[in-house]
Amino acid sequence: MVYRQADQLDFTIETTPPMPLPRRVLMVSPDHFDVEYVINPHMEGHVGQVDRALARRQWEALRDTYRTLGFEVHVLDGVPGLPDMVFCANQTLPFLRGDGGRGVVLSRMHAPQRRDEVPHLARFFEQQGYALVSIPDEVPGSFEGMGDALWHPGHALLWGGYGFRTDQAVYAWLARELGVRVVALHLTDPDFYHLDTCLSLLDAGTALYVPAAFDEAGRALLHRLIPNLIEVPEREARELLACNAHCPDGRHVLIQRGCTETVARLRAAGFEPIELDTGEFLKSGGSVFCMKLMFF
Ligand code: ARG
Repeated sequence: MVYRQADQLDFTIETTPPMPLPRRVLMVSPDHFDVEYVINPHMEGHVGQVDRALARRQWEALRDTYRTLGFEVHVLDGVPGLPDMVFCANQTLPFLRGDGGRGVVLSRMHAPQRRDEVPHLARFFEQQGYALVSIPDEVPGSFEGMGDALWHPGHALLWGGYGFRTDQAVYAWLARELGVRVVALHLTDPDFYHLDTCLSLLDAGTALYVPAAFDEAGRALLHRLIPNLIEVPEREARELLACNAHCPDGRHVLIQRGCTETVARLRAAGFEPIELDTGEFLKSGGSVFCMKLMFF
């Protein structure tokens, strides 16, 4: 079932089935990363402005941070002509069924410039023995994987953002196909075009969020289901994509450097922020969360 209003909620997080946290990280090397077109407001004015050598160092520092934290990092080569493929949160949604079956839903990218990225990720997951699931033709609209569809930490519950890159129709199909509840959140501000730019689920009861990115119904759903909602200052969210942070283990939070207030709030809530510079990738509208994909 897809939940769109707080008054529809007939469950709590504790009553949703458990699901382990994914332990493997996929990254796509940034050899061909660049800003070559504008498909989100963050990219404006940055075409041709990427420092490739610096981008590579920033990407390597992120990869090494996951390794230091004990995660296995798989690296796929980038592909010429696909400058956004480095944002590998977007081309698929990995899932783990209750019976242990692993698969990925293949995205239907909104921007034509990004459509050819999907088969490269599909091939990787096929080699890993994952079932590949395509959105059926009769389901209309686009879907951008873990840019918009986020697993609730430790639970088989999906948060689904829609409005810019993903169509809400996809969530009714996904809920049925995966047999999970989906909480659908309408995104209303183009600076926050993916759910992972305005909501960061840290652990089962805590999340960072930007209130202005959602409508009234969305804010009510978030408040009802997440006891510790940490508000991110709008400047840090818009300019530094503070909500594109990633907490892989319920404790460490990898986040763009300079999000001073967000970092203070994270520490106060008992988390350990790790500040990284993803400045070259911010020029494309992405940071930590979208530069990797967690899989099971
Ligand atoms: N330039 C990319 C795009 O606009 C950035 C994607 C960032 N990914 C994310 N999950 N927020 O598609």
